[in-house]
Amino acid sequence: MHRVTSADGTSIAYDVYGEGEPIIMVEGAFCGRHFGPTAKLAAELGEQFRVYHYDRRARGDSSPSTDYRMERELEDLRAMLEVAGGKAGLVGFSSGACLTLEAAAAHLPLTRIAFYEPPYMVGPKARKVPATYREDIQTLVAGGKHGDAVAYFMTKLIGMPSIFLLPMKFSKMWPKVWQVACREEHIAEAGDYHVYDIGYLSAIVVRTDSGEIKAFRNACMHRGTALKPSQSEGNCENFRCPFHAWIYNLDGELVDLPENWDFPHVTAGGADATHNLKPVKVGLWGGFVFINFDLQAESLEKWLGVFPAHLDRFHIQDRYIETAVTKRLPVNWKAAEEAFMEAYHVKETHAGGRDYSEPITTYDVYPDNVNRFIHTTGAANPRMPKQPTQQELLEQMWGRRGSAEGSCPIVPEGQTARDVYARIIQKQLGEQYDQDFSHYSTAQTLDSIEYFLFPNLFVFPGLSLPMVYRFRPDPDNPDFSYFDLYMLRPKHPQFPPPPPPEPLFLDVEDSYTKSEGLGFLGPVYDQDTNNMAAQTRGFKTCAKGGQTLGNYQEIRTRHVHKRVNDYVKGSS
Ligand code: FES
Ligand SMILES: [Fe+2]
Repeated sequence: MHRVTSADGTSIAYDVYGEGEPIIMVEGAFCGRHFGPTAKLAAELGEQFRVYHYDRRARGDSSPSTDYRMERELEDLRAMLEVAGGKAGLVGFSSGACLTLEAAAAHLPLTRIAFYEPPYMVGPKARKVPATYREDIQTLVAGGKHGDAVAYFMTKLIGMPSIFLLPMKFSKMWPKVWQVACREEHIAEAGDYHVYDIGYLSAIVVRTDSGEIKAFRNACMHRGTALKPSQSEGNCENFRCPFHAWIYNLDGELVDLPENWDFPHVTAGGADATHNLKPVKVGLWGGFVFINFDLQAESLEKWLGVFPAHLDRFHIQDRYIETAVTKRLPVNWKAAEEAFMEAYHVKETHAGGRDYSEPITTYDVYPDNVNRFIHTTGAANPRMPKQPTQQELLEQMWGRRGSAEGSCPIVPEGQTARDVYARIIQKQLGEQYDQDFSHYSTAQTLDSIEYFLFPNLFVFPGLSLPMVYRFRPDPDNPDFSYFDLYMLRPKHPQFPPPPPPEPLFLDVEDSYTKSEGLGFLGPVYDQDTNNMAAQTRGFKTCAKGGQTLGNYQEIRTRHVHKRVNDYVKGSS
């Protein structure tokens, strides 16, 4: 990347491709070097020209500006022309095509121009736009509603049908990232399938006859019908389309179609058939089945980064799903994730504002997709004016168990409350699950150890808090999302675990306390949900562009947004 400074001091970022006659590419209003359809074109033109591909002011890597008049943009072009040797050809797209024509009209030193779809609306058939569109957009921007301003521009001015807005947002990231579709135990036997829906995309994950796990886009190659219903699962010998009965084997190969005399252009039967199901990439780790709709995506191993090195000792693959809950949340999927990424909210949200109830928590971010917190249980807040005794700490933890548990044990001399309580938990869970958990450390037993894998997976590898979270956007409404919550327990060394339970579905108003398996966590999750609904309301009215984040305790939220932005900007 190179930079040049425009007349008013704005820094303009650009790339250069190839050798030959200089040309400058002028992007449309919503595009940039890495965001839009022309990045590939710039490289291809570089085979014959010396191409200067720049970010217009306030886009991509160019710096923001307070002045967006045409004159300023022409100054930017003058700066680019200097870089290109004094004169060059211009290639403009959309509003960049208008800018190209303005540059020619202003007699900038151009050798030639090409332009594509300048959006001038003239003549009697010109589409009508709201007379107040300038003020409307300025009001939205001034109110910090940048997304709404873009939506207004795209629909009211450009005329794009509003139903395309969500897929446009969605398509930047979700079709390109590794994500958990299910656990291996969901598809334990040959023919078992599980449908995973993410936004408008849907994949069928299946165990084939050879025992391999494969995944396909959940769409018939005849006329696109979904082969299996959303979020469904079951066992089948093949995939038979409910519309006209085209049949695919478990390897996704089209094996039969009715009245094939009418389809001489379709061959069936085997890997070379013309209309086999579209594959989806599959990767396995920790008993999870990951998928990626992008067949060119990097390997799952690379995506996981430090995840296996940190978590393999916990043998997540040797756990089974004890409890499964899917909750519809009244908040965008990113804000839902953020609610579980910091312990800063614990004192106010979960501890009634009690002094010194902030848990001691460390936060770490690892390249590129992993972060974590470790949130201690039963350790004294060092800011307390008078430090509690070990006995008082044990009594605090014991108090959460309810009166039926009897009186609190005594902490022996020289031991800590955490160690004593960890042994109690290990014994209790050992009896409950008929296993020996004494090899777990105190931290592994008691603490809330939470690993996050971008974009939407949380794994708690500890013993007493063994949750897995997965968040999915609502395909139709950005103010809602789905929260899939599992409790994973260690499998018994001798006996097979029960099959995965059907998830309990909770709508927005339903309390998590409806799930027995969540135990004391039910009311805690309800408290988090209340915050989410309030945030969604507040987001609409706060007249503030973005959140204000703490440097340390909210670093994981920064990390998620950085990674999302990598995709939105097109640099991932
Ligand atoms: S759409 Fe599937 S068989 Fe016709
Ligand atoms: Fe919480």
